[in-house]
Amino acid sequence: MTALNSFDIEGQNVIVTGGAMGIGLGIARRFVEGGANVLLVDRDENAVRIAADGLKGKGRSAWLAVDIGADDAGAQAVAKCVASFGSVTTLVNNAGIFPQVPMLEISPDVFDRVYRTNLRGLAFMSAAVGKQLVAQKTQGSIINIGSVDSVHPSMIGLAAYDASKGGVLMFTRSFALEMAVHGVRVNAVLPGGVTTEGTSRPLAGSKMTAEQMKEMMDHFTQTKIPMRRMGVPDDISGAVIFLASSAASYMTGASIVVDGGMLLA
Ligand SMILES: NC(=O)c1ccc[n+]([C@@H]2O[C@H](COP(=O)([O-])OP(=O)(O)OC[C@H]3O[C@@H](n4cnc5c(N)ncnc54)[C@H](O)[C@@H]3O)[C@@H](O)[C@H]2O)c1
Repeated sequence: MTALNSFDIEGQNVIVTGGAMGIGLGIARRFVEGGANVLLVDRDENAVRIAADGLKGKGRSAWLAVDIGADDAGAQAVAKCVASFGSVTTLVNNAGIFPQVPMLEISPDVFDRVYRTNLRGLAFMSAAVGKQLVAQKTQGSIINIGSVDSVHPSMIGLAAYDASKGGVLMFTRSFALEMAVHGVRVNAVLPGGVTTEGTSRPLAGSKMTAEQMKEMMDHFTQTKIPMRRMGVPDDISGAVIFLASSAASYMTGASIVVDGGMLLA
């Protein structure tokens, strides 16, 4: 194997949650281009169907409409991936929500929804795929999309989100420890600000108009990001493809920050 083809992901069977748009769709595109088969899992049925149909490359695509907070979402995703491609080798836990509501105003219901998607959904999706990898005797990998907010708050109003993403980082480490004996690697990618559908409109719960949101993002980019630009989904794909490939075969419980230097500022 040469140093370059160790980045090969051809033939992997990958589940990408939250794959209908944004970072998840960007990741899925690169996998399919590289010859991996991808199951997009998303709660937005119309968007996930269109996204899967639009994926073009050496690999194949399929889709499943489910809320990853549902108790049987992991089992459904595994069953669909096996039915579509024959096995599961890789999971990218990307689905996440980021309502912006100060802790003094947040309702228990919104707090629970953030945890249900960002942490509980991610954990039980990991468990379902972990069981399948063990049953298949596949030395696969799981990649969790955390955030720079896993280690440092980026703005006011994200206490529930930040707590959930801090949990993602510690879940990654703990599950990596549990799965190492099975040869299953569990790692995280921590993005900074990335322009996506979700960050291009006022955040759910925010009282900002679209114009105020744009002004806030411009100010954020100029003052908080040393590289002076927002990331694009492809900035995140590279780190995910690396972690999924055999180039990262001795990495587990690790996290890669992809933030244009934001955590340095
Ligand atoms: N965009 C950023 O600046 C940024 C920064 C750091 C971390 N992240 C993380 O990256 C991930 C993707 O963010 P994005 O900006 O692409 O978001 P986005 O809102 O653009 O897309 C998220 C996708 O996930 C789906 N989704 C949300 N909740 C779901 C659920 N319960 N079940 C199934 N699907 C669900 C949505 O339908 C959507 O298709 C999230 O985990 C987010 O926290 C994003």
